[in-house]
Amino acid sequence: MEKLVVTGGAELNGSISVSGSKNASLPILAATLLTREPCTIRRVPDVSDTNYMLQILRSLGAEVERASGTVTVCAENIHADAPYDLVRKMRASICVMGPLLARLLEARVSLPGGCVIGDRPVDLHLKGLAELGADVSVAGGDIIIKAENGLHGKRVHLFGKHGPTVLGTDNLIMAATLAKGTTIIEEAACEPEVTDLVEFLNRMGAKIHGAGTRTITIEGVGQLHGADHTVIPDRIEAGTFVIAAAMAGKKVTVRRARAEHLESLFTVLRESGYKIDVDGDRITTGRIDNPTGCELITEPYPGFPTDMQAQLTSLFATVPGISVVTEKIFPQRFMHVAELNRMGANIQLEGATAIIKGVKKLSGAPVMASDLRASAALVLAGLCADGETEINRLYHIDRGYEHIDEKLMELGANMRREKA
Ligand code: EPU
Repeated sequence: MEKLVVTGGAELNGSISVSGSKNASLPILAATLLTREPCTIRRVPDVSDTNYMLQILRSLGAEVERASGTVTVCAENIHADAPYDLVRKMRASICVMGPLLARLLEARVSLPGGCVIGDRPVDLHLKGLAELGADVSVAGGDIIIKAENGLHGKRVHLFGKHGPTVLGTDNLIMAATLAKGTTIIEEAACEPEVTDLVEFLNRMGAKIHGAGTRTITIEGVGQLHGADHTVIPDRIEAGTFVIAAAMAGKKVTVRRARAEHLESLFTVLRESGYKIDVDGDRITTGRIDNPTGCELITEPYPGFPTDMQAQLTSLFATVPGISVVTEKIFPQRFMHVAELNRMGANIQLEGATAIIKGVKKLSGAPVMASDLRASAALVLAGLCADGETEINRLYHIDRGYEHIDEKLMELGANMRREKA
């Protein structure tokens, strides 16, 4: 196991480039199961979650090649059983269910277990697939899903207690591409990663309209063919670097970003007083003298993303005044709070709301990463804390950030990986 030791106080300066999106890559890689023909996916980030997905595709029978960011998948002969040992490592493995069902009319995928960011059910995925005509049962910890009479298009509402579901929408779209007739998904997720998946599917010959809105229409087609696709830039990685710049940057430019995907973050930062300059795919920002605290609520896109809540909480920890952060997507996603408090932050949790009283300075401490975004928040805190912050369980951050330490060091950050 590795840990990251961050020595705070170095001023970040310069520019860094954003990698391809992890959360777009995962369903797009799963979608290659929908055709017997080879597909090429470009700018797939080299992170452990995409590597797990490639292992799952191989274990299902696909031939997979990877040369730096370009992945070629040929799923000519595949079977329907996703192995527990791989699936349990990553909840997003659930998104092979839709394509397997569409292509083979059956799938067996382990039921995802508990998760540190809270209860993460898959009821909406199953409800959607059942409405298209699939029979769902659970045996031996696996979801067994079969559509002996084929899948048939229908109008399906996918709204849950906490809003729409991203991977649930993906699963249903993928299943509907090869169904008979037209499927209309109401209350679909409209995250940019869903839109990117739909672009790829349409390149494969699918007929999908309305991606990026709450209503998505899929006209089923007889078969899909191979396609070539470049994954969108990772908006959460870009946002994390923008926050790093706001916390510890002189002048930092984040390159290869899609600024239009980050509007909700810019709104919060500008409200706090930060100046954000956008020039094409480049975003430039830095620290300011008198930021002010503010209020934010996580919401489905285009609202403020839950995947950036921990990093913003880390920023607010040293912003003068009181900030209030409410988590509406995953109400228990606050594992970073206790760790930030160990570094001298003053954050109190009231249910799904964090009340943050900005302190002058954080102080370095040994801390424990609990999930991907929480670990990013601790790295950010370490950048501007006094002394050394030791972030343990680094594998969490390697699940979703491509070489984050190397990229931050390019900007002048002082950090090193060590054996824990
Ligand atoms: N939900 C249900 N029933 C379901 C599915 C979801 O009640 O069947 C609830 C969830 O418990 C949650 C809300 O609906 O309260 C939204 O969850 P969603 O299904 O949208 O999450 P997801 O698709 O499993 C993706 C991202 C997450 C991101 C969420 C929300 C991927 C691989 N994962 O998860 O990313 O937080 O959408 O935007 O795309 C991360 O990258 O760190 C990460 C956790």
